[in-house]
Amino acid sequence: MLPIKKESFQKPVQSIGLFGYGTVGKAVYGIIQNTPGLQASIEKIGIKDPGKKRNINEGLFTAHAGEILNNPCIHTIVELIDDADVAYQIVKDALWQGKAVVTANKKMIAAHFDELWRLQKHTGTPLLYEGACCASIPIIRNLEEYYDTDALSKIRGIINGSTNFILSRMQDDALPFTEALLQAQQLGFAETNALLDIDGHDAANKLSILLAHAFGCVIKPESLLYAGISKLHGDDVKYANQRKQKIKLVAQAQKLKNGKLAAFVLPQFIEAADELADIHNEFNGLITESHYTDKHFFKGKGAGALPTAAAVLSDIAALRYGYKYEYKKISTQNSIQLSNDYYIKVYVSADAFSKIKSHAFEYIDESQSQYGYCAVTGVILAQKLWEDTWWRQPGVSLVTCTDPITPDADYKKISRRSLELAGIT
Ligand SMILES: NC(=O)c1ccc[n+]([C@@H]2O[C@H](COP(=O)([O-])OP(=O)(O)OC[C@H]3O[C@@H](n4cnc5c(N)ncnc54)[C@H](OP(=O)(O)O)[C@@H]3O)[C@@H](O)[C@H]2O)c1
Repeated sequence: MLPIKKESFQKPVQSIGLFGYGTVGKAVYGIIQNTPGLQASIEKIGIKDPGKKRNINEGLFTAHAGEILNNPCIHTIVELIDDADVAYQIVKDALWQGKAVVTANKKMIAAHFDELWRLQKHTGTPLLYEGACCASIPIIRNLEEYYDTDALSKIRGIINGSTNFILSRMQDDALPFTEALLQAQQLGFAETNALLDIDGHDAANKLSILLAHAFGCVIKPESLLYAGISKLHGDDVKYANQRKQKIKLVAQAQKLKNGKLAAFVLPQFIEAADELADIHNEFNGLITESHYTDKHFFKGKGAGALPTAAAVLSDIAALRYGYKYEYKKISTQNSIQLSNDYYIKVYVSADAFSKIKSHAFEYIDESQSQYGYCAVTGVILAQKLWEDTWWRQPGVSLVTCTDPITPDADYKKISRRSLELAGIT
């Protein structure tokens, strides 16, 4: 039997400069103190408000970023602040100085993905951000490493813990929207600016990051078709309940027959048999589909101090063995293009029929109106949703149907038109 060599040297301690001592920052600090095996030491903590009372040694804190960034003894920066613009400056500065960075700031990464990817290539310095997408689910490293030869055809999932928590409370406990949101904020699941969650911006930021790692598609979140849950009406929930369905905020991306990529974040009706139906509260769930493997299903806590801190810790540990993202799909594939040229089946409800632009639909399958609540279900070109604003106005809500991408819309439209011409309607 071959003898196993024992490491004869002590690994050097990883000296960390931590930015942010809020929900996630505090948890990361606590876990590092309780994990001596990690051999990491937090040298300084950057915060915004020097007057705030802290529960640990006050001497560790500084409101001057330069005190951390210019310290030659600090080799790793862990960025966990809630200001995406300042975070970008910190991360850029650190990478230029050759300091490895771990961050969970999806807004910052999504807004500057292209620059940050190029900066890592140029400097050779790693930037890891597992905690930025689905918190505790190790999805980015799996997309980077596992789905390399077995190309992905689709990803679909619940990637925002706060909205899923709110929808769970509304559907399972009949809690009003505002009360459910307050609970999410009190439990530390919601972003400091709650609109980032409830209007779908946070999920769009995460989807844009996932698209780069899953399909090599680098696009800004604002290029995506997306909406949140703030306009959902109690009657929409009732409609779902009657059909034994749930409403979830779903992020979906799939390759189309024309080789392009459809991608959106929209509320969706979920059948009881769908894996996503069992994703409750702050949990996230993501299904990947690929040619040989078929389906994988990832489930884990998608928000909160400890689950996010766990992902940050995993990145800190990965830096010890020189791990960095290779962005293979961006570098090697002919980058896949995003397209809104596909049909999507949606349900739109409104407090007045005049608010539903029915002539925008290719065809309408169902239409109902009672007690001041009206709704239509039909197929519409995604590009029309992207361009039009009528479905975003107050009093109107939109939910995609199960399996919403409709490949045979052209065929149906033509056959309906021929029936009309033949006088059979
Ligand atoms: N909470 C979650 O469940 C979760 C999950 C995944 C990812 N994230 C991401 O993790 C990051 C941190 O979130 P959080 O929930 O921990 O936020 P948080 O509780 O609001 O804490 C924010 C921290 O950032 C500090 N800060 C703000 N502006 C700063 C500046 N200009 N310079 C230095 N420090 C500054 C604040 O300093 P003061 O203490 O002085 O106010 C505070 O310590 C965000 O990017 C968020 O998107 C959070």
